[in-house]
Amino acid sequence: MDTSKNYSILNCIGRTAFIGASTRCLLTNGFTGAVLKGSNRKDKELVYNYTSTYESLPISVKVHNNLYIYDPYAFFFTNTLESKQIIEDGIKVIQEKFPDLLDNCYFDVFLKRSCKPKGVIGKTLSQLIESNPNLFMKTSSLRVMQFFNNAFKKSKNIPTMEEVKLLIGKCDALTAWGLLTIDDISKRMAIKTRFIDNFVIENYPIKQIVILGSGFDCRAHRLPLSENHKVFEIDLPQVLDYKEKVLEEALRIVPTMSKSKNSLIKMDLRNFDLWKEELVNSGFNPSQPTIWLMEGLLNYFTQYEIHNILESCGELSVSGSKVMMLTMTATKHTQSDHLKQILTCSLLDQYQSYIDDPDFYMKEAGFTENIQMYSESNLLKKLAHQKDSNLEKWNLYSYTIGTMK
Ligand SMILES: C[S@@+](CC[C@H](N)C(=O)[O-])C[C@H]1O[C@@H](n2cnc3c(N)ncnc32)[C@H](O)[C@@H]1O
Repeated sequence: MDTSKNYSILNCIGRTAFIGASTRCLLTNGFTGAVLKGSNRKDKELVYNYTSTYESLPISVKVHNNLYIYDPYAFFFTNTLESKQIIEDGIKVIQEKFPDLLDNCYFDVFLKRSCKPKGVIGKTLSQLIESNPNLFMKTSSLRVMQFFNNAFKKSKNIPTMEEVKLLIGKCDALTAWGLLTIDDISKRMAIKTRFIDNFVIENYPIKQIVILGSGFDCRAHRLPLSENHKVFEIDLPQVLDYKEKVLEEALRIVPTMSKSKNSLIKMDLRNFDLWKEELVNSGFNPSQPTIWLMEGLLNYFTQYEIHNILESCGELSVSGSKVMMLTMTATKHTQSDHLKQILTCSLLDQYQSYIDDPDFYMKEAGFTENIQMYSESNLLKKLAHQKDSNLEKWNLYSYTIGTMK
């Protein structure tokens, strides 16, 4: 992979980071909307710096109250030309790779819901867009979805990919992501974010945090870390260049919650020796305990590379250091065509591996103590006391944490 600075985020694997940011934005908006409507959550004072941003584009998704997360910076990553371009490119890829996807796709779910259509029956999506060019601008994604229902429930006109493309083209970036985000993804992202946030906060005495493949993760700004915390983020140069550019504006509008010292390490994680060296040169202290986070990252590597990355973390860890790694299970994935039904299929084409035994890699690297593994449905029970048969069926992610002996 070319990792020169000129290689745009649009073409590199970093485009996958937009999925996380857009979903965190929709969740943050859900939380903000709930707070503004009078939610009694204790952390409601969080939203006030973000209120005017929220009001400019109140598109959200709903999850259980305990699962809402707050990432005000996600909005700024999502509402860019790059973000919009990535959706449009994704639609093109779906069209090329899965030409008959719409027979069974996400949109169809909404077409089946109950509705009371007015003046839309018998029209194709493109006719509707033609007659209401502003309809999809600045509206809530739920309303857009309802509109889909209304438009097609009693009509035989299932939208074609061309029509979907047209619709996406007319939306702002956040609305477009809102349209293409299914409930499962929002719930997964909420569980993931809340669990990892809790992991960092519960280990507050560990002041050194390394986020591998950090993408648009903003824990270094949105968690209440102390001045003694150091956060190191490692990702490809084109991702972290984009991140720096976006955060320059975002941090002026929503001030950081954290007092930590933050460093960006712009490197390919497959250059094991180079990133370790750069980490130490940037102020990382191998004799201090560390939290290593790998969220949404490891599928992009081969098993050999995963082994080497964990080994590198192990080499730089003293006793008491902790790892959190998220992996995608092979068994569930191969059973499932589900992922292919959504836009993200176009972003997942670079997956290199699926892992059913993440604890094996962790133990090999020396993180042998207190190993705990969670499925998504375990975490849903733990965090929100909820059951979800869909998540149980498609327990795609596995969370493993462990401690260096
Ligand atoms: C799905 S995103 C996850 C981002 C973030 N951790 C989150 O959960 O929102 C995957 C990230 O891994 C990064 N990544 C993939 N391969 C990489 C490599 N070889 N070196 C460094 N980063 C890489 C991508 O650039 C991207 O930011």
